[in-house]
Amino acid sequence: MDFLGYANKRVIVSGCFSGMGEATARKLVELGAEVHGLDFKESALDLASFSLVDLRDPATIEAAVTGIGGRVDALFNCAGLPQTAPAMDVMKVNYAGARHLTEQVIPLMGEGGAIASISSTGGMGWSRKLPMLSEFVKISGFDAIVKWCEENAETVAEGYSLSKEAIIVWTMWSSSQLIKRGIRINCTLPAPTQTPMMDEFESATAAEVLDTFIQPINRRATPEEQAGPLICLNSDAAGYVNGVVLPVDGGFMGAVTTGQADLSALMPSS
Ligand SMILES: NC(=O)c1ccc[n+]([C@@H]2O[C@H](COP(=O)([O-])OP(=O)(O)OC[C@H]3O[C@@H](n4cnc5c(N)ncnc54)[C@H](O)[C@@H]3O)[C@@H](O)[C@H]2O)c1
Repeated sequence: MDFLGYANKRVIVSGCFSGMGEATARKLVELGAEVHGLDFKESALDLASFSLVDLRDPATIEAAVTGIGGRVDALFNCAGLPQTAPAMDVMKVNYAGARHLTEQVIPLMGEGGAIASISSTGGMGWSRKLPMLSEFVKISGFDAIVKWCEENAETVAEGYSLSKEAIIVWTMWSSSQLIKRGIRINCTLPAPTQTPMMDEFESATAAEVLDTFIQPINRRATPEEQAGPLICLNSDAAGYVNGVVLPVDGGFMGAVTTGQADLSALMPSS
């Protein structure tokens, strides 16, 4: 029984070279989908097609989507850069490029189309910045977003938090518009996950800060444990799920909300 409904679906996965994107693309192939992968590093997976795309370069995004063409049923925005990369690259890959890719793919989607993007528990501060973020996500077009980032370097800071907060608010904001065309959009908030990006997080972030986000489960996620919820969100089984920001964090957000998480490592030391 094809409960998730991926047999013969045409799907696009960005970031299919490694980590969560690789695990997502691999599982989708197993589920019988026609998987089109995008990355700036060549994928070893047995995909229907692979396109070299640098999400910092909108022309490569446009060329890849034109090359795939036809009907697209689902898009998985999995590519990303950590905060150790230059801030403008982080904003381009994690937000402007993901959004540009999505906007190129939407015209290829019909009723039943679905988009899932990866944000992060690192974006959990979005609600405190909602007025600024609500204005930011109304800026559309790759170049206009990059221009705003260049003019607001202090707000952008290291880029990672803002890029992840922007994905969250853009997901919620665009969901009420896209659903009128029968297209759903959701995102996930992974807690620390054992992927190649983890080495970068470990070099930039104290161990006790990273460990804060794995309370109460007390272990990191695997890439497959992040791929599963993304695949469910974009599946036929989730046809009424839209505009959702789904923590995939072993219970961290629940512990925060109910006052059971120790957040002292995140507080500035006095
Ligand atoms: N690993 C974690 O703990 C963690 C936690 C929360 C959120 N995330 C997010 O999960 C997503 C997946 O990351 P991951 O942990 O699987 O790491 P990863 O480094 O294994 O995967 C990132 C992928 O993005 C691709 N990529 C990077 N720059 C690109 C560019 N310019 N153009 C095209 N592709 C590009 C990489 O080649 C790679 O395949 C990212 O958005 C990341 O921010 C990761």
